[in-house]
Amino acid sequence: MSVITPYVLVLYYSRHGATQTLAEQIASGIESVGGIEARLRRAPEVSTTCEQTQAEIPDSGAMYVELDDLRHCAGLALGSPTRFGNMAAPLKYFLDSTSELWMNGALIDKPATAFSASSSLHGGQETTLITMLIPLLHHGMVYAGVPYSATELLETTQGGTPYGTTHVSGKRGDNDVDQHECRLAHAQGKRIARLALSMLPLREK
Ligand SMILES: Cc1cc2nc3c(=O)[nH]c(=O)nc-3n(C[C@H](O)[C@H](O)[C@H](O)COP(=O)(O)O)c2cc1C
Repeated sequence: MSVITPYVLVLYYSRHGATQTLAEQIASGIESVGGIEARLRRAPEVSTTCEQTQAEIPDSGAMYVELDDLRHCAGLALGSPTRFGNMAAPLKYFLDSTSELWMNGALIDKPATAFSASSSLHGGQETTLITMLIPLLHHGMVYAGVPYSATELLETTQGGTPYGTTHVSGKRGDNDVDQHECRLAHAQGKRIARLALSMLPLREK
């Protein structure tokens, strides 16, 4: 009998790479915990027309997400750029395709967390994280943010919130993820991995 290692799905959308960098940091935090893996996946672009606009497999970066990646995860880290204080449409589009999982309670009692990038410091990162939290609660997931035991929350002058890690990418989108943001993302990954492992038995009852 093959034993499948549990994984946290790190699912993100990123147009210019800032959210992807945070996703990679969160994944490294997950991988620092034994007995669980990170599975990085991204949401594909959406189009205003019905034509196929891209290949099924991306040229580079993480594979596109499939419903089964979400169905079988032990936990979820969901990432989106801030768009008008809200999650980006491609991620919402994917979430809107998950009603079968909702009907079957596939995500109930699994932990979830969220992360975001925005160009400006006060440009709506927290509201974006909250828009991402809402569908996860509908799915019965248990939301976990970043506690203040991650002391970078008190020190950061860029991104980082107790609702989830954020990154301020700047006017031209070329700010690197700074040390505080990086450590917060790592801590968030570690936390969601530990929670996922500890909550696994809940699903077996
Ligand atoms: C349609 C659109 C709306 C945006 N809305 C906001 C916003 O409300 N606040 C903000 O600070 N940045 C906003 N941005 C900038 C992005 O959040 C920012 O460039 C982010 O770092 C992009 O992430 P990515 O590199 O992962 O694509 C917006 C960008 C686009 C394209």
